[in-house]
Amino acid sequence: MKTVIHKVQENENDREIYEKAGEIIRRGGLVAFPTETVYGLGGDAYNRDSSRKIYAAKGRPSDNPLIVHICDICQLPDIAVNIPSCVKDLAESFWPGPLTLIMKRSDRIPLETTGGLDTVAVRMPDHKTALDLIRYSQRPIAAPSANLSGRPSPTKASHVFTDLNGRIDMILDGGSVGIGVESTIIDLTSHTPMLLRPGYYLAEDFTEILGEVQTDPAIKILDSGLKPDENIRPKAPGMKYRHYAPKAELNIVTGDDKKVVEMINRLVAEKEKAGIRCGIITAGEDPSLYPLGVIKDAGGSDGERAYSLFGILREFDEMNVGFIYARDLSGGRLGNALMNRLYKAAAGKIINV
Ligand code: TXA
Ligand code: MG
Repeated sequence: MKTVIHKVQENENDREIYEKAGEIIRRGGLVAFPTETVYGLGGDAYNRDSSRKIYAAKGRPSDNPLIVHICDICQLPDIAVNIPSCVKDLAESFWPGPLTLIMKRSDRIPLETTGGLDTVAVRMPDHKTALDLIRYSQRPIAAPSANLSGRPSPTKASHVFTDLNGRIDMILDGGSVGIGVESTIIDLTSHTPMLLRPGYYLAEDFTEILGEVQTDPAIKILDSGLKPDENIRPKAPGMKYRHYAPKAELNIVTGDDKKVVEMINRLVAEKEKAGIRCGIITAGEDPSLYPLGVIKDAGGSDGERAYSLFGILREFDEMNVGFIYARDLSGGRLGNALMNRLYKAAAGKIINV
């Protein structure tokens, strides 16, 4: 299959592109598109074959449900049933935006879209291209992140092309995304609303509307060494898979600032002496602190770090480094979401000094 790439410029000339893209979705094809979080790989959420194609293109396990994207709240009653009354207030405050809500699935949404579950994840993305694509398709769009399963989520159209060229019909290139980590997921079907995936929004952002919000114990980052408890099974099926994994062995190095720098420099020196190239992910520090290794700076603020992290993991993949050492990226609104992704990329390897 030939994958066509179209740049969208947000002007009148885009019309024809959206018409083509919408037609692809309606006839069961796949279109990748930007959102404010990461690029998504879209198909008709009502069409079981489209969802099957999404799993096949990504190499994604079929028990890992897709998020259904809408452009208007009017679409919701076709997608979910027994919609809790709080959804109106949540939608008013947080949609369009990086929030995904889990509700009871309506029969119009096939089980292929929800990975066999009787619940469905819904979000309204805050990105003109995404909203226009949904509008032109005249369908809600099922879309996971547009990466091959296990790879870092794409934050640029070129990342999508690297992973999915030849596997999908079209990529809408809308430039870089804004946030860089995936949406916050809240399950509204449990007795107490529960945070299943950390993102831009935090549990406390919802307390005014929802009252108590629990956090899935499987994703809680424990104080001791920032490690989530691996013995608990996450409630969002996708959170149990190893994710974002770069080819190199990634270690997170945490603890006292000075000791962390010393430890990274010692490890890099050892490896480089043995002829193994190393990468270092810094957190806005002066690069001259690290005399050896390839340095990629994630930035000093949580916003910059979210924007750059997935791209950095991909860049290191292209450089054939054997080891990557990452500074602790916690802190700020997105710190928890970032550590959740970094921890998965490191497959749990943390060096505490
Ligand atoms: O920001 C985002 O959410 C991006 C953009 C494209 O919208 N999408 C995204 O999709 O991150 P994906 O497929 O990479 O992650 C979806 C997550 C998975 O962990 C999946 O298990 C969970 O949402 N999920 C989907 N439906 C669910 C359900 N019914 N119950 C529990 N978890 C669900
Ligand atoms: Mg994903």
